[in-house]
Amino acid sequence: MVDLRVKIAGVELKNPVMTASGTFGSGMEYSEFVDLSQLGAVVTKGVANVPWPGNPTPRVAEIRGGMMNAIGLQNPGIDVFCSRDIPFLKQQNATIIVNVCGRTTEDYCEVVERLADEPVDMLEINISCPNVRCGGIAFGQDPKAVEAITREVRRHAKQPVIMKLSPNVTDITETARAAEAGGADALSLINTLTGMKINIHRRTFALANQTGGVSGPAIHPIAVRMVYQTAQAVGIPIIGMGGIQMAEDAIEFLLAGATAVAVGTANFRNPAVTLEVIDGIRAYMEQYKVERVTELVGAVR
Ligand SMILES: Cc1cc2nc3c(=O)[nH]c(=O)nc-3n(C[C@H](O)[C@H](O)[C@H](O)COP(=O)(O)O)c2cc1C
Repeated sequence: MVDLRVKIAGVELKNPVMTASGTFGSGMEYSEFVDLSQLGAVVTKGVANVPWPGNPTPRVAEIRGGMMNAIGLQNPGIDVFCSRDIPFLKQQNATIIVNVCGRTTEDYCEVVERLADEPVDMLEINISCPNVRCGGIAFGQDPKAVEAITREVRRHAKQPVIMKLSPNVTDITETARAAEAGGADALSLINTLTGMKINIHRRTFALANQTGGVSGPAIHPIAVRMVYQTAQAVGIPIIGMGGIQMAEDAIEFLLAGATAVAVGTANFRNPAVTLEVIDGIRAYMEQYKVERVTELVGAVR
């Protein structure tokens, strides 16, 4: 018997495998394939203070090695989320991490305050959103903005706060340190990398938004590198994600210094992939006689 439990900011997870925000809805659509209580946590699609319609279509495209999306954070708003999605996840005995998005610091704080008395285990703050007060540059691309928003969110939050970092920066350790300085309880990384795809026959952009976030296997080595660098730079736990397709990919993140991992794009191809990743980590531990999964965290030599 191996011990798969991990702890993040005082919250114990059954195992280190979560869903990545935006690739698993709020769990309802996947519950036919996955017993949600078996996951480390369900991380929900980003939710804002009011409903967001999202971007014009087309807003997803396949690429070799993954996909691109420019969904534009379509979501029904916090009121619908609290009345429909939280009760469902609770009833499934899922550990719940709510991903939060916003256009201003006040938007984020409103959502976080609204969640204070809900049965939610942790909050994940998506700062890859354009800051309308700073000419639309994403909060997550400026260390000062990262520290400021982390501090404000932390002040309004009852649950532990995970700051989700953008990889679209020169040095991820700068924004990681800024989030830690602002009081983040944990970090998750990476969000999608900005890319562009062109349809050569129509001579148009593949996505109506022109640019989109690249995810899937193509970004895995970049994400592992960023998790390793971040683990050297901060003392708070890290949730690693980006291109996990199978247990081996997840184990690389653990060895690089992540305490837990999240599986995103792979859910679209195989809705039960998270359970296979958990089984694969267990098999690896048995093969290498590792008793506790925490022994793997940062164990790369
Ligand atoms: C269709 C889609 C929607 C996403 N929506 C969100 C979101 O709402 N909030 C967020 O923080 N990340 C969002 N992400 C980013 C993922 O959570 C994850 O960080 C990224 O896709 C890398 O993991 P992967 O390669 O396993 O997909 C989304 C990704 C995809 C593909």
